[in-house]
Amino acid sequence: MPIQLDAEFWENRYQQEQTGWDIGHISTPLKTYIDQLQDKQITILIPGCGNAYEARYLWQQGFHNTHILDWSASALQNFKAQQSDFPDKQLLQEDFFKHQGQYDLILEQTFFCALSPTLRPAYVQQMHRLLKPKGKLVGLLFNILLHTEHPPFGGNIEEYRPLFATHFDIQIMEPCYNSIKPRQGSELFIKLTKLL
Ligand SMILES: C[S@@+](CC[C@H](N)C(=O)[O-])C[C@H]1O[C@@H](n2cnc3c(N)ncnc32)[C@H](O)[C@@H]1O
Repeated sequence: MPIQLDAEFWENRYQQEQTGWDIGHISTPLKTYIDQLQDKQITILIPGCGNAYEARYLWQQGFHNTHILDWSASALQNFKAQQSDFPDKQLLQEDFFKHQGQYDLILEQTFFCALSPTLRPAYVQQMHRLLKPKGKLVGLLFNILLHTEHPPFGGNIEEYRPLFATHFDIQIMEPCYNSIKPRQGSELFIKLTKLL
């Protein structure tokens, strides 16, 4: 029987501390991207945020319109324990696919690969819906095979290009030059702008 990737599955992973994806700090590519952003007023969403180290960094740099979303209560509590002044209204314990909102920027890191590949077209549509006109989806996608029965699910640039091109102008989708060491050579950096 295929594994049920529901809220309970992910919550259990946090409760049992089986979080192999968690690198414990902001990743170099996302930090480098954030460091060149000029406008600190932009609205930002990090879906499938987990312990959300990027959100801590953003918050500490003055990006106070940052929102984090995950359907694991434990993940959000872990984050809040580390950044107690982050507003509760910007902590969203919800299903990504049901979320409604409008953002200038959405950050991706090991969320896409956590979803069943059958949901990829819906992911692209929902990302498009959640972005304001000219909004951007930026982050990292694995560019390797990985698993097919359970997450992380892999993929490659040849399949991602046509998938995202239906809803986004692909400004950057290329091998990431500054990945953290364990992910070197296995990820793509993406910067995609919402098509109208
Ligand atoms: C592999 S983890 C990645 C966490 C984080 N991005 C990181 O890099 O450490 C995937 C996360 O997505 C969350 N998730 C999976 N499906 C979701 C959904 N439909 N709605 C909201 N969160 C979801 C899980 O709870 C989990 O925290």
